[in-house]
Amino acid sequence: MKKVGLVGWRGMVGSVLLERMQQENDFAHIDTTFFTTSQAGQLGPDLAGPAKPLLDANDCQALAKMDIIISCQGGDYTNDVYPALRASGWDGYWIDAASALRMKDDSIIVLDPVNLDVIKHGLASGVKTFVGGNCTVSLMLLALGGLFERDLIEWVSPMTYQAASGAGARNMKELIAQMGTIHQSVAGLVDDERAAILEIDKIVSEKIASDDLPTAQFGVALAGSLIPWIDVPMPSGQSKEEWKAQVEANKILGTQAAPIPVDGLCVRIGAMRCHSQAMTIKLRKDISVAEIEAILASHNEWVKVIPNDRALTTQDLTPVKVTGTLTIPVGRIRKLNMGPEYISAFTVGDQLLWGAAEPLRRMLKIIEQ
Ligand code: HSE
Repeated sequence: MKKVGLVGWRGMVGSVLLERMQQENDFAHIDTTFFTTSQAGQLGPDLAGPAKPLLDANDCQALAKMDIIISCQGGDYTNDVYPALRASGWDGYWIDAASALRMKDDSIIVLDPVNLDVIKHGLASGVKTFVGGNCTVSLMLLALGGLFERDLIEWVSPMTYQAASGAGARNMKELIAQMGTIHQSVAGLVDDERAAILEIDKIVSEKIASDDLPTAQFGVALAGSLIPWIDVPMPSGQSKEEWKAQVEANKILGTQAAPIPVDGLCVRIGAMRCHSQAMTIKLRKDISVAEIEAILASHNEWVKVIPNDRALTTQDLTPVKVTGTLTIPVGRIRKLNMGPEYISAFTVGDQLLWGAAEPLRRMLKIIEQ
């Protein structure tokens, strides 16, 4: 049994990871040690057998006893501990949810339904560092995997609708608090059939813009609004979230030598944990919508093509439908007026599952094999 150390298992991504590992009985096949940055010595969870004391996640000697370490602790922790651990001579597998090591030459971004060949080649050539991709990138590649696999995409412009969870647990709470504050300001009027909507709108608009709205996390209102900027600015004019799309997608696909252009705007909206993306795709050739749908549907077991039908779309192609599941619906596939090679598509995915935790637990299984 491989000795596996888990760091950052109490946070949001870590908790989803543990939940998935329990569901899939992953703990039965590994010898698990739980690490902590703040509560060393306290009793850990009993998910993987009898509870044992937590070990210090900053203790390189304790970490070095592991064959595999999975970290959901965040980029600062990775930047602090990983270089020291490697410098100490540790040669184990490091699997990370944070972006810190993603673009390093000696790491692989893991999304095995899309890049199992890249992962296997990396393992065979001695790569020991595997990092989960940015959530929007992973979700887009799972949705469009069939077209990428056949090299049918000349470029893609994903315009995102990203959920609060991508910004963190506190941001999710703030979104709900914002919604509550807004509702409270007009609760009596909303229930009053005679109340004029413009009167309600005036009160709501003033409330959203007021200091009453909790904004410590987002800085501005998200409920009743949106934020068309995610992460820090890059010199290119892109936000960092937008910059990641092309560099990470091509690294995952192994197409860095001749990168496929991937670029669009990333927008935070008031969904809880599902990221959505509206994609404009330039195909390399004119193929029928039916053929495109068949190619997409056959790529992996999670993608689900939703016919371009109003009722089916509004039922099945939404964050409400997808949340908490591994399903990756993709729909609104149609030819655009720009020409026969131009198509639209819309996809939704759970940002905490396929967008974060799931590729990590699957990487662990691949190493075990
Ligand atoms: N950066 C993403 C977001 C989440 O802010 O939604 C992490 O991939």
